Amino acid sequence: MSQDSIAVASSVDGNSSSEGRGLWSSRWVFFLAATGSAVGLGNIWKFPYITGENGGGAFVLVYLACILVIGIPLLMAEVMIGRRGRANPEGAFALLAKVAGASRHWRWLGTVAVLTGFLILSFYAVVAGWALDYAPAALSGGFAGLDGESSGALFGALLADPWKLAGYGSLVLALTLGIVGLGVREGLERSLRFLMPGLFVLLLILVGYAATTGHFMQAVHFLFDADFSKLGGQGVLVALGHAFFTLSLASGAMMVYGSYLPAGTSIARTSLLVALADTLVALLAGLAIFPLVFANGLEPGAGPGLIFVTLPIAFGQMPLGQLVGGLFFIMLAIAALTSAISLSEPTIAWLSEKFGISRFKAVLLSGVALWLLSLGTVFSFNAWSEITLFGKTFFDSLDYLTTNLMMPLGGLGTVLFTGWALSRKTVQEALGIEQPQLFGLWWQLLRWLTPLGILIVFLHTLGLF
Ligand code: PFF
Repeated sequence: MSQDSIAVASSVDGNSSSEGRGLWSSRWVFFLAATGSAVGLGNIWKFPYITGENGGGAFVLVYLACILVIGIPLLMAEVMIGRRGRANPEGAFALLAKVAGASRHWRWLGTVAVLTGFLILSFYAVVAGWALDYAPAALSGGFAGLDGESSGALFGALLADPWKLAGYGSLVLALTLGIVGLGVREGLERSLRFLMPGLFVLLLILVGYAATTGHFMQAVHFLFDADFSKLGGQGVLVALGHAFFTLSLASGAMMVYGSYLPAGTSIARTSLLVALADTLVALLAGLAIFPLVFANGLEPGAGPGLIFVTLPIAFGQMPLGQLVGGLFFIMLAIAALTSAISLSEPTIAWLSEKFGISRFKAVLLSGVALWLLSLGTVFSFNAWSEITLFGKTFFDSLDYLTTNLMMPLGGLGTVLFTGWALSRKTVQEALGIEQPQLFGLWWQLLRWLTPLGILIVFLHTLGLF
């Protein structure tokens, strides 16, 4: 860590010293943490169903292009800001703005990022709780003989039960905050060291199993044969939006993880590897899921119910379905937990650094607030399902507000800050890329194509074109 960043960080008002915050013990651990954040419900739940809905291969191709043009440049910028600032997102923006002589109001981008992560976690924990309910159900043979109707009814019964939803959601929050409360090394690092390899092994077992169904090649063709006639303009925008969510951008997670990154690690190379691992997991999840869907004559374009309604039918019919289904939902729970951890860390770091309170107090405070807010999501599936704002339930509104408004706006702000408010020299030094051509390519992407891409999704979301 450069001495000046410590000195300036401690002098920027609103932030206590960056000393003693903790650092990842190696680049490998940062890779595990960032990949753990990126790989989550987005990869295993959302990516397969939006691919199914948007016709397969062509969608995958556009999604990959979005990861390259928008996702990776922004990911690098966020990690860079975090590492240079050595503080929570608000403190990091404040420091960099100060160093660049730019307006101190840029710090709001950091505050909004922290808030985005906090809000997402309040509903992410509830959805992750579904996996906790489905894992034991699968293992105990609860899916045997399910058909479309009874599987839909099983999922409906879970959503209708506020006690169950709140119970599992609280469990996810307690696990998440329990781990985060132990600190960067003792909590995050120790848990990630076994959760991430466990996740990967489970995924490989499931892909291996899917390869034996006889319908593996059908899934390969579905995912990789690009038929652009099946992809509408809407599909392109969904792909663009998903690139944001899946790489955990604009919610403080990557920035705060970057702030624990040891100096001297190549941000470009590590970010590239994280994006690669995230994409690989999404594609492998597709290769684990679609062969089962095809082998059982089910519908790949089933939408959000693909995992919680369609897949259980397959698990209930196939050999070893109990075990495979159980492992699948355990894998989903682990993936969601490592993402939830990264969603809470920006808030914890922000509370403790901005207000000078202990990490323990920050965990307690945010735990209570998150739990209360999560009840809104719980009730939006049952008691409050009729209460809507612009036709959206509490859960839908939060999802829309964060994923469709706050993330793109925050991302756009971050790219503009990095590419236009900071000088090329500051950024090049902070990023530490030695090859000038490579840096030049990234710099141009970040200044032009990335903001343009984000702007297109955002304007479309607002219905402006
Ligand atoms: N990337 C996670 C997923 O794909 O499920 C979701 C996520 C995690 C979004 C952390 C934002 C974040 F800060």
